Amino acid sequence: MKKAATISGVVLGGFLLFAGTAAMTSEPLDGEKLAQERCTQCHGFGRVERAMAEKDPAAWEATVDRMIGKKSGLLNEEERAAVLGYLVNR
Ligand code: HEC
Repeated sequence: MKKAATISGVVLGGFLLFAGTAAMTSEPLDGEKLAQERCTQCHGFGRVERAMAEKDPAAWEATVDRMIGKKSGLLNEEERAAVLGYLVNR
């Protein structure tokens, strides 16, 4: 019986861990914070800010995809959308 209790403990623990992760990923991503974190790894944020004045949404999409092309895994699908939302709506 002790073994069964251990197993259900592991299963419950696994479920709580899963629920916690799901809750975290469903939180809206902060596009501004993400951009400041990820888009300053190779150049300053100034380059991003200067471009905000002139790029339209399509241009930003092309630029962000080009940056992801330089470093695979830079942004996942959700993060890319959040960063684009920030860049386009400023
Ligand atoms: C792996 C390094 C790297 C990362 C990470 C990176 N960039 Fe760049 N970025 C570059 C390089 C190199 C250039 C200059 C060459 C070019 O334009 O392709 C550049 C140029 C730019 C330019 C100026 C050129 C243009 O098209 O207006 C902008 C704007 C820009 N990056 C935005 C971003 C944004 C937004 C992010 C985050 C999503 C980002 N970068 C992340 C390397 C990077």
